[in-house]
Amino acid sequence: MKEHFGNKRFRFHRADLLNDPLRNFFEGCDAVWHLAANPEVRIGAENPKIHIEQNVLATHKVLEEMRKAGIKTLVFTSTSTIYGEAEQIPTPENYGPLLPISLYGASKLACEALISAYCHTFGMNAVIYRFANVVGKRLRHGVIYDFIMKLKRNPNELEILGDGTQTKSYIYIDDCINAMFFGLKAISQHEKHKNEAKEGSGKAKRKKLRG
Ligand SMILES: NC(=O)c1ccc[n+]([C@@H]2O[C@H](COP(=O)([O-])OP(=O)(O)OC[C@H]3O[C@@H](n4cnc5c(N)ncnc54)[C@H](O)[C@@H]3O)[C@@H](O)[C@H]2O)c1
Repeated sequence: MKEHFGNKRFRFHRADLLNDPLRNFFEGCDAVWHLAANPEVRIGAENPKIHIEQNVLATHKVLEEMRKAGIKTLVFTSTSTIYGEAEQIPTPENYGPLLPISLYGASKLACEALISAYCHTFGMNAVIYRFANVVGKRLRHGVIYDFIMKLKRNPNELEILGDGTQTKSYIYIDDCINAMFFGLKAISQHEKHKNEAKEGSGKAKRKKLRG
């Protein structure tokens, strides 16, 4: 992030979503990109509260601050783990039932449900991405990172958990970011068309009243 510090259009605030007031950061924003989360799947088995607090409660706080500040657009990073042990790979978006097998997956599914309800109740728009394993040069967790660490410790041997036949999907970070901007653009286009349609029907009604 340091590379952006000289950019006048960039501002960095360090804050804890759960405990710090967020109002000042949200006012005047067009959209919120909510990526903060605890993404460590394994932690859930040791401390079941962590994902509820850092993912579900933190997302609720973000949604509430958006509602109060009148921000209508949210970009949210969910996860493919909400599908649980999907029988269909690649898994389509309308796959169901959604049966997560980790507290992390359950917490992100709860976030999606909250986001959906806020969008419908308060006229917000959201784009939700169910990413699988994102890989890139600044990777700090996940299976590929674990493999690299293991190979650094012992280049002659690689321990693979499970029976070794499992498969996983991966996405490169640049493709992931491009997809997120694409989704944001799609929301703006959708909003523009909705407004144009509304204005159009308003004009048609006025015409009808006059005529
Ligand atoms: N990396 C992946 O493969 C992957 C896959 C699917 C979904 N995701 C999702 O994408 C997002 C980003 O993932 P990442 O891999 O960059 O994770 P990351 O752990 O590198 O980044 C998450 C950030 O959230 C911050 N955070 C956590 N709790 C916070 C709080 N209460 N207040 C403020 N900040 C807080 C952490 O400090 C961290 O900087 C997450 O929502 C994750 O669940 C990631």
